[in-house]
Amino acid sequence: MQKLKKHQKIYVNRSINMASIRSLGFDMDHTLVLYNRVNFENLAFHETLKKFIANGYPEELASLKFDPNFVIRGLLVDRERGNLLKVDAHKYVKVAFHGHMKLDKAARSELYNSRGFKADDFLTVDTFFALSETQLYIEIVDYMRRNPGKIQKTFTEVYKDLREWIDLSHQDGSIKTKVLMEPSKYIVRDPHLVDTLVKLIDGGKKIFLLTNSDWAYTNSVMTYLLDNQHEEFQQWQDYFEYIIVSAGKPNFFTGTNPFYEVMTEQDGLLKLHRGPLVPKNVYHGGNAILFEKLTMQKGDQILYCGDHIYGDIMRSKELFNWRTLLVVEELYDDFKKTEKLQPELEKIMEAITVEEDLQAQVQALRSNISNQERRHKSKHRAKQDESKFLVRIAELQAELKGKEETLETQHKAIKELISTREKQFHPVWGELMRTSLEKSRFGKQIESYACLYTSRMSALRHYSCSEKLRSYRDVMPHDL
Ligand code: IMP
Ligand code: MG
Repeated sequence: MQKLKKHQKIYVNRSINMASIRSLGFDMDHTLVLYNRVNFENLAFHETLKKFIANGYPEELASLKFDPNFVIRGLLVDRERGNLLKVDAHKYVKVAFHGHMKLDKAARSELYNSRGFKADDFLTVDTFFALSETQLYIEIVDYMRRNPGKIQKTFTEVYKDLREWIDLSHQDGSIKTKVLMEPSKYIVRDPHLVDTLVKLIDGGKKIFLLTNSDWAYTNSVMTYLLDNQHEEFQQWQDYFEYIIVSAGKPNFFTGTNPFYEVMTEQDGLLKLHRGPLVPKNVYHGGNAILFEKLTMQKGDQILYCGDHIYGDIMRSKELFNWRTLLVVEELYDDFKKTEKLQPELEKIMEAITVEEDLQAQVQALRSNISNQERRHKSKHRAKQDESKFLVRIAELQAELKGKEETLETQHKAIKELISTREKQFHPVWGELMRTSLEKSRFGKQIESYACLYTSRMSALRHYSCSEKLRSYRDVMPHDL
């Protein structure tokens, strides 16, 4: 196989033999369809903000600006306090903001780190759609911080309003109509999408679409992306064995909704569906138990690809044993940075080795001093040796002081090196998958729930349909 670049690879947490996968399912938004995130999130931000003002929030809010670079996925939102948190895999809050005000270590400790907290009490920013939502929340919290009393609501109430109006913006067409009016502004074509789907089909896999988007939107977006791109697959539906819209994931994996057949292409009228799913027909709703039954497949024969760790990946894997491929779009840019910053990482590792060596020297000196002091105080010590011991102890203490200072300087230097490296990934939050050198909560979730992950679904085209994808994740710290 050709040597793949990092962004072309699929990463394996759990070994999968592609030969035993019968069908591959795809989520639509942010999996098959990539968005111009700045344009899309800006639109969602402003459409929702309009609803705040229309519902009595101060007109001044109209001047709030969307910042595409502030919020990243994997952060937690403390809705009660109006805070945004980056947490490591052990739920330690590493970075926290109240609106745009950074909380210092003491405040973080007081609010979070000195007491145990349940990450489930907070909301995770785990979809791209949630980025603009969280950004808007943070801007309003910051407005409330700068203008006390102007919004007579708690942070929790503001968040509740936000949820309602975000939902509405997704449903009333204020976002989607604009996207469809100017698809080239909002939708990014993956140049390898067609090749990837065709390669999977030629490799004997059935392809299905399982999206939460409704029929009208799905049809328009998929038409824009896939119609007339391949002479044998003229219409987008030609690629897919099964098409399920308005699936309501994650409830698709936990609920018992029936499938409805979408009866008309234009207005999407629905009819309760009974019997096997007919290839190429379009279905609405449904649930995973019924899907497996009607398509005569077992969970471990299905590989589902999506971008939402919770909606697409966690439940499908946990409850149905579906194999999962998580698309982590951000990795595309992160990989470039990781490569560029490799020398910095090596510098950090070297500095840590020096630090470990210094720590050992400090420890040895401390033991030596204790030993000399014990012997000095011993009743068996010869009287004439007193000054000899005192001189030796003083020498060792001076040496220890010097080493401790060097160790402290080394410690600070490492902190600085790590922080400089992190800032190159993101000036505020650092690396997506890590906090300092450890895994972030998001990184840990990806490791736990996604069998596979990659930066683009089209990375699948680099692998054969019977490839054995092997995991090397079982490397433990003591193996390195
Ligand atoms: P999928 O990723 O293809 O399953 O589809 C995601 C769908 O969920 C898109 O149609 C989004 O507009 C919609 N969506 C995303 N976030 C929200 C939300 O917060 N409220 C309502 N709909 C949402
Ligand atoms: Mg999606």
